[in-house]
Amino acid sequence: METKLVYHSFEKVDADAVAVVLFEDETPPAELKFASSWLDDLRASGEFSGKSEELAVLHQPHGMKAKRLVAVGAGKRAGFDLRKCIATAIRALKPKGVKKLGWWLNGADPEAVVEGAIVGNFESDQYKTANQGKSLDSFYAIAATNGAEQDRAFERGEILGDAQNFARTLANEPANRLTPLILADRAKAMAQEAGLEYEMLDQDRMRQLGMGALLGVAQGSAEPPALIIVRYKPETAPKTSDHLGLVGKGVTFDTGGVSIKPAEGMEKMKYDMCGGAAVLGAMKAIAKLKPSIPVTGFVPTVENMVGGKAQRPGDIVKSLNGKTVEVLNTDAEGRLILIDAIAYAQRQGCTHLVDAATLTGAIVVALGHVNTGAFTNNEALLGRVMAAARAEGEKMWHMPLDDEYKDLLKSAFADLANIGGRWGGAVSAAWFLREFAGDTPWVHLDIAGTAWLDDAKPYMAKGPTGVCVRTFTKLALAW
Ligand code: BES
Ligand code: ZN
Ligand code: ZN
Repeated sequence: METKLVYHSFEKVDADAVAVVLFEDETPPAELKFASSWLDDLRASGEFSGKSEELAVLHQPHGMKAKRLVAVGAGKRAGFDLRKCIATAIRALKPKGVKKLGWWLNGADPEAVVEGAIVGNFESDQYKTANQGKSLDSFYAIAATNGAEQDRAFERGEILGDAQNFARTLANEPANRLTPLILADRAKAMAQEAGLEYEMLDQDRMRQLGMGALLGVAQGSAEPPALIIVRYKPETAPKTSDHLGLVGKGVTFDTGGVSIKPAEGMEKMKYDMCGGAAVLGAMKAIAKLKPSIPVTGFVPTVENMVGGKAQRPGDIVKSLNGKTVEVLNTDAEGRLILIDAIAYAQRQGCTHLVDAATLTGAIVVALGHVNTGAFTNNEALLGRVMAAARAEGEKMWHMPLDDEYKDLLKSAFADLANIGGRWGGAVSAAWFLREFAGDTPWVHLDIAGTAWLDDAKPYMAKGPTGVCVRTFTKLALAW
């Protein structure tokens, strides 16, 4: 989709439709005087009162160049989500044959507007051979006056929206089309295009280094694993010695291994690489938006399979940092690959770590599909992550990590067990990672409930959400 910020009065914009936002219980802006009788009728008839998700279309609006004027309900001003409002309107207008849409900014933040448009326009249809092309071709944000800051904000929004959709496209790839090595190739292509450094540790290199936890998960699959590394370095020397490491779980398919998952719903486990996709999406945006600190993305990627060589419950593996782990359940594989990536990120000089992972079903039980679970060993870093998330409209909830939970991971035979029993499963999983983060300020984001939509929402297509791409990018930019 072509996106553009245009300076015009909205009456003069040539498009299939021009949309204007109307709040509930507020009189329409003065610029809409010419349409006041239409708007009054809409309200009187009860057809449209400005509630969120409402839409009313006026064809051949008098005095306008566009073919249609669309009133978009925004609800009450308090709690208004601009991105969702736009995305909802776009998703409703696409089936009505609108290809070229103008959006009257009326003072709204152009960054959020174009983000909402790009994310809302995305469809999970990359493998549909028919019924494609439902999407908009052009989106024009219409501003009354020009300004450099406005242009920059618009460009930022374009970059963030595209990066989020890049992550969603990766997550939509089924496991037969996206093996760990193919994911590495996709990361490489992205890095080359964006001007980032790319490196990949292959199986031999990981053996030399001693990444026994990651390799143990990978050994059941015919597809070799990889540790993808993508580096951004600021052009001018940074003022701090801080170095942000982003780590994302990249399990291209999770059968559970020998502790196999039930067949029903297993197809969804192609999305077990959404954390990795979020890291790659964020790195793509970071390359363009150029924050002032170095940021390195790490994506440990494996396929968790059953097979003659697969690891067994009770196997003991040695991780990169030397600790041994008893694998009581082969389905708790995400934490096993993450600990070797975390240890490697520390060796690479990362001073702050944030990971994203579709780590536990337990976080979905705790928080549903609304909030990402956020865990930390450092409140200050969590504060930064939460602030970035809030600015980007990505909901996160601070979860506990009291010392008492740590005991859940005791093993009779190794330093740690990889599972913590039935209760508090998201917390014990986070504690497992924390044991390896050590003193490095670290935040863990469990996105098992937020990375995927089982059903389409008015504002988003079914499938991957691309959660954390914008939060990660904003975190780096605000550093
Ligand atoms: N990838 C899953 C977590 C998951 C479950 C994501 C459901 C999305 C939806 C993870 O590898 C896993 O299987 N975790 C186990 C851990 C358990 C064995 C301690 C789980 O949550 O059941
Ligand atoms: Zn699993
Ligand atoms: Zn998994």
